[in-house]
Amino acid sequence: MRVITQDAYGPPEKVMVLRDVDRPVPGERDVLVRVHAAPVSGTDWHLARGLPYVARPITGWRRPRSRIPGYDLSGTVVEAGAAVSTLRPGDEVYGWAAGTFAEYAAVPEKQLAPIPANLTLEQAAAVPIAAFTALQAVRDGAGLLAADTGGAQPADGPARRVLITGASGGVGTYAVQFAKAYGAYVTGMCRTSKMDLVAGLGADEVVDYTSTPLRHLGRRFDVLIDLYGNPSLAEVARVLVPGGAVVYVGGTGGRWFMGTDRWLRGMALAPLRRLRTRPVIHSDSRDDLVTITGMIESGVVRPVLDRTFPLAQAAEAIRYVTAGEVRGQAVLRCAD
Ligand SMILES: NC(=O)c1ccc[n+]([C@@H]2O[C@H](COP(=O)([O-])OP(=O)(O)OC[C@H]3O[C@@H](n4cnc5c(N)ncnc54)[C@H](OP(=O)(O)O)[C@@H]3O)[C@@H](O)[C@H]2O)c1
Repeated sequence: MRVITQDAYGPPEKVMVLRDVDRPVPGERDVLVRVHAAPVSGTDWHLARGLPYVARPITGWRRPRSRIPGYDLSGTVVEAGAAVSTLRPGDEVYGWAAGTFAEYAAVPEKQLAPIPANLTLEQAAAVPIAAFTALQAVRDGAGLLAADTGGAQPADGPARRVLITGASGGVGTYAVQFAKAYGAYVTGMCRTSKMDLVAGLGADEVVDYTSTPLRHLGRRFDVLIDLYGNPSLAEVARVLVPGGAVVYVGGTGGRWFMGTDRWLRGMALAPLRRLRTRPVIHSDSRDDLVTITGMIESGVVRPVLDRTFPLAQAAEAIRYVTAGEVRGQAVLRCAD
């Protein structure tokens, strides 16, 4: 089978190579998936380069621990291990796994769910990790959802004013929709050319960061979900009401920490300014995948699929998403 491999850290076009390798053999609790598509994001660019350095104990010290990049997928089950009970050959599934820039992947059954009935396999590939991150930032981080509603129910009380940076990106396009679904009054920030996209996702207001950066907003919000930029605590304090919360998700700047040092400083100093902080490192969760499936099928949330690329063009796809023109998510077609 054809896969993208990476044996060293560096720019994707230098270190990602298309190779033929043996198909993986599924264990008894795994299924073998013919991978239809896998999403590509700015995170793939950072991971290819081994950034930030502080993550290397997890990603691999000198070279990537996972030789095949890619962390989520959609595809068709072609073989099921003896102990697999919920999936069968022919099922169209989506979920997460290591090494999805490949024609086939062996994936534990518990990391997969049937794709939403109203999505194509390409659209479904644009869902798992981006949507987990957005859901967890909105629901768990921002606390928009009453604890016991368990679904897309608006929180009780007046709508909370939520500001989302990076609203046009892979995670942001979901965050806007989840925050709306949970009853927030949503303001999204993005560049001029994507304001229509963010408005079309239901944002109540859209701010162009190229003309009005965070520090010039001149208004206050209950919650800031920061998917881009790692603003200083002073900038955060200027846009939040007393007692407001900043949810740290994205990271920008510096090879060592990529902004996570600002998370830590913000978390240490926020109480002095009467602010709350919540860092969100997404966790892969089948329960959340099932929740998201229901929200997609009921039309509450939809993926935003930009361009697709053949597997062989993984490096070009990563360059494309980091160049800034992508709207939502780009995906690799792995089974062409
Ligand atoms: N904590 C976690 O578990 C987790 C999980 C997944 C991702 N992440 C992180 O979350 C962030 C967002 O991920 P993503 O996949 O959505 O990335 P993405 O698709 O590349 O989106 C990046 C977003 O940042 C915005 N942006 C770019 N330059 C900007 C600038 N100068 N000022 C303000 N906004 C700017 C973009 O807006 P325009 O395109 O409109 O310019 C876009 O909306 C990344 O930092 C990623 O590493 C964290």
